[in-house]
Amino acid sequence: MLCQKRKKHTLGVMLFIVSFSMFLFSCTLHNPSLLFNRSLRIAAGRCACQRCIMAPEDDSWFSDKLNHSVHLLLTRTNSELSNETYRWWQWLQSERNPANLSVVVDKLFQVIPGEDDLMDSSPSRCRTCSVVGNSGNLRSSGYGPQIDAAEIVIRINQALTEGFEEDVGRKTTHHVMYPESALDLKSNSTALVLAPFKILDLEWIISALTNGNITYTYMPVMPRIQANKNKVLVYNPAFLKYVHEVWLDGHGRYPSTGFISLIFALHICDEVNVFGFGADRFGNWHHYWEENLLGQAFRQTGVHDGDYEYNITQVLSNKGKIRLFKGVNRPLTMEWAD
Ligand SMILES: *[C@@H]1O[C@H](CO)[C@@H](O)[C@H](O)[C@H]1NC(C)=O
Ligand SMILES: *[C@@H]1O[C@H](CO)[C@@H](O)[C@H](O)[C@H]1NC(C)=O
Ligand SMILES: *[C@@H]1O[C@H](CO)[C@@H](O)[C@H](O)[C@H]1NC(C)=O
Ligand SMILES: *[C@@H]1O[C@H](CO)[C@@H](O)[C@H](O)[C@H]1NC(C)=O
Ligand SMILES: *[C@@H]1O[C@H](CO)[C@@H](O)[C@H](O)[C@H]1NC(C)=O
Ligand SMILES: *[C@@H]1O[C@H](CO)[C@@H](O)[C@H](O)[C@H]1NC(C)=O
Repeated sequence: MLCQKRKKHTLGVMLFIVSFSMFLFSCTLHNPSLLFNRSLRIAAGRCACQRCIMAPEDDSWFSDKLNHSVHLLLTRTNSELSNETYRWWQWLQSERNPANLSVVVDKLFQVIPGEDDLMDSSPSRCRTCSVVGNSGNLRSSGYGPQIDAAEIVIRINQALTEGFEEDVGRKTTHHVMYPESALDLKSNSTALVLAPFKILDLEWIISALTNGNITYTYMPVMPRIQANKNKVLVYNPAFLKYVHEVWLDGHGRYPSTGFISLIFALHICDEVNVFGFGADRFGNWHHYWEENLLGQAFRQTGVHDGDYEYNITQVLSNKGKIRLFKGVNRPLTMEWAD
């Protein structure tokens, strides 16, 4: 009797689950994977991806480092730096005769919006990001469509896509650069993200978007830049310091633009796919658009600690916080050996 009752009860529950699932399925017919995502999301409660960066079962190495209180971008309301941050920032490129920061920042926000609308996480959103470095390991990878499938596609410095679409994709929502690595943006919908390593860099972006009168920093720079003023963002120096101290344990003089942008993505995305980081499979650090004709292993990482940055990237990947795409292992050919 009791047993039968339980059976009926079980049957009822099962029927309910089946009909509820079918209801959900009918809502998500266009993308049945949504059903799977949603049920996991209910379990995770942070985002609507299959796996969120901030999963509840987080490991302490990661959650001790990730600090959501750090200001990622310079805005009208957070542009005053602590003395410690200011001193650290000024030391990076040993700027001589720096201009008055608060005066420069005032001018800056007359030219660009100075708002931060990137922190829009929600349990109903799955913010996917591709962070695309410039490593030669992208060659022949065929990653283009996978890179472009993300909502946010971040590219760095001199990155170009024309002629390399199959391997690197064609979409760019955010292009990170500094004055000495700048290039014109082809699309009005791409956000220029300035990584400032000195006050002159802020003066340069003002100039490059207006009268073009700054032509030299420690080397000649583009006087003018083609970019949508309304979409220009600036990394906060406090964020750069945090990346250096917390994520790199102070290794190198300061972090590379690529590594900074990877950590940026960890903060603004729920799912981060990383492409084109590290050396190619021969240990060469070169750019995917360059021909390294002599096959030399040149490792110009300069003021950055490329090995340590790659180590941390690897650790993030091992912990499942990012997906690291390392390029393909093709048999050695002369073409690939470039
Ligand atoms: C996170 O960053 C804020 C702002 O910089 C800082 O005040 C706070 O101490 C940091 N938290 C941790 C745990 O380091
Ligand atoms: C920061 O530096 C300024 C000028 O060097 C000084 O007047 C001020 O007291 C310092 N503030 C703190 C909190 O140390
Ligand atoms: C920078 O300019 C502000 C506003 O004009 C002024 O109050 C401040 O004293 C200046 N700081 C320095 C170090 O000259
Ligand atoms: C780009 O955007 C700016 C501001 O939104 C606008 O003034 C300009 O006309 C646009 N340019 C093109 C080529 O669409
Ligand atoms: C560039 O122009 C701005 C505004 O007209 C001016 O304040 C600044 O001093 C100029 N800089 C140079 C290097 O000429
Ligand atoms: C890589 O990073 C981890 C985590 O910070 C650290 O424990 C380890 O010593 C690093 N390894 C190397 C070779 O730098």
